[in-house]
Amino acid sequence: VESNLSITVVGASGDLAKKKIFPALFALYYEDCLPENFIVFGYARTKMTNEDLRTMISETLTCRIDKRENCDDKMAQFLSRCFYHSGQYNSEEDFLKLDCKLKEKEGEKLSNRLYYLSIPPNIFVDVVRCASMKASSEKGWTRVIVEKPFGRDSESSSELTRCLKQYLTEDQIFRIDHYLGKELVENLSVLRFSNLVFEPLWSRNYIRNVQIIFSEDFGTEGRGGYFDHYGIIRDIIQNHLLQILALFAMETPVSLDAEDVRNEKVKVLRSMRPLRLEDVVVGQYKGHSKGGRSYPGYTDDSTVPSGSLTPTFAAAALFINNARWDGVPFLMKAGKALHTKRAEIRVQFRHVPGNLYKRNFGTDLDKATNELVLRVQPDEAIYLKINNKVPGLGMRLDRSDLNLLYRARYPKEIPDAYERLLLDAIEGERRLFIRSDELDAAWAIFTPLLKELENKKIAPELYPYGSRGPVGAHYLAARHNVRWGDLGSED
Ligand code: BG6
Repeated sequence: VESNLSITVVGASGDLAKKKIFPALFALYYEDCLPENFIVFGYARTKMTNEDLRTMISETLTCRIDKRENCDDKMAQFLSRCFYHSGQYNSEEDFLKLDCKLKEKEGEKLSNRLYYLSIPPNIFVDVVRCASMKASSEKGWTRVIVEKPFGRDSESSSELTRCLKQYLTEDQIFRIDHYLGKELVENLSVLRFSNLVFEPLWSRNYIRNVQIIFSEDFGTEGRGGYFDHYGIIRDIIQNHLLQILALFAMETPVSLDAEDVRNEKVKVLRSMRPLRLEDVVVGQYKGHSKGGRSYPGYTDDSTVPSGSLTPTFAAAALFINNARWDGVPFLMKAGKALHTKRAEIRVQFRHVPGNLYKRNFGTDLDKATNELVLRVQPDEAIYLKINNKVPGLGMRLDRSDLNLLYRARYPKEIPDAYERLLLDAIEGERRLFIRSDELDAAWAIFTPLLKELENKKIAPELYPYGSRGPVGAHYLAARHNVRWGDLGSED
C-alpha cells in the first residue's frame, strides 16, 4: 500500500522553523528524498491562512546553487503541499481539529506522522500530550523530534524524559543535536575507522591533547531571553561539543547500527570525570568600540537582566578515565561575540621520541608535533600538519599542511545538518539522535559544576566583543600543558 507522510511543524512561526526546518524540508523535496505523498502542516497560535504560511516560508526557501533549474516550479509544488492550522499548544481540542484536517488530506492511505517541536521547553509536554492523544497516526508510526534544551540539569532533564515517556515510547522520541548532522562530524567516524593511518594512533600513546572549539562572531542579539536562562555551557558545550567528543573518543562500535553506536557513546560519557570548578573558565562579553563602531555588551541586550552572571564563553578541561584516554586533556572552548566564526576539532600529537631533526627546529619542539585539524565550519576541511624539508640545499624544515579542502575537492554544496537529520527521522534511522541514557550521562558531567557556578555566583571574566575571549582560557590550557590551536589564523 502506498503510504502517506504528514509532517507537522509545531511552532511554525518561530525562528528555527523559518530558518532551518522549512528550508530543509524543501531541500529534501527538491532532491526527491520525500515520499511521493507527503504534506506539511504548520501549527502555531497566530491566526494565519494557508496562503499566509506559504508566503512566510517562501522567503527562506532556496535551491542549491548548482541546481537552479526548475527552482520556481519546485517551490510552487512544495508550497501547495503546505498547510496551516492555528491552535493553542495545550488544547486537546485544537489537536483534534488538526487530526481531522490531516485525515482529510491523508485519505485512505496508511499515514505516518512526524511532529517537529520547534517550541520553548515549557510547552514540550503539553504538545506531546495533545498530539499523542488526539493526533497520532492510527495505523502508521508517529514520531516526535525534540530540540534542546532538554532540561537545565540532571533532575529537570530526567523529569522531562519521564513526562515525555508518559505519552511516547523512547523509540518515538528523536532528540536532535544538529551538530551530529554536520558533514564533518558525520565524517569523523569514517576518517577514523576506515583509514589505517589514524585509528592505531587514536589513544594516549600518541595523542597529547584534543581541542574542540566553537566560536561565533556575534552576540545573543534578540535571543537574550532564552540564552540567559541557559548560558553557553548548556547551549553549546554540554550538547554539541560533548557529542563530538563522544564520537571522537568512543571505542569501535560492534556495527553502525544505532544502538551499537550509541552504546559506545554512552560508555565514553560515563567514563568521564564530572567537571569541577577548577576545570573551567567562564567569560561574558562586554561592550566595545572599534573603528568608530560600537558593539554592545551582553547585559546591554534589553532581554537580559542587568547584572546577569550568565557565561557567554566557557573553556573546560575534560578527562576520560579509561585505558585509551587516561590523562589526555580534552579541551573545549565555546563563545559568542568572539573575533571569528568557526567550529573545529584539533588533535595534537606527541613529540617524536628521540627526534633526529631536533636541532633543525630551534628551541620550540612543540611547533614540530603533528596536528590533525577537522574544520567543521565554515569552509570545511581536514588537514594534517607535518614536518617537511624545505626544498633546496641544506636542511631546513618547516611545517606544511596535507590539506583536504572540501570546496576544492567536492564542489557540490553540502546539505544542511537539518536535512540529514530530518531524513533520518523519516527513515527511522536513530544513530544521530540522542538516546535518553546518553542524555543522562551528559548531564551528569556538567550538573555539579553548573550548580556550583550558580550557587557561588561565580562572576564571569569580561572580554570585549569581537576579541579572542578571556585570557583565563590560556591559563587553563597552560595548566594542562596545552596551547590552544591558533583559531582564526591561517596556520
Ligand atoms: C544552537 C545554539 O544550538 O546552535 C545557538 O542554541 C548557536 O546559540 C547555534 O548559535 C549554532 O549552530 P550553527 O549550526 O550555526 O553552528
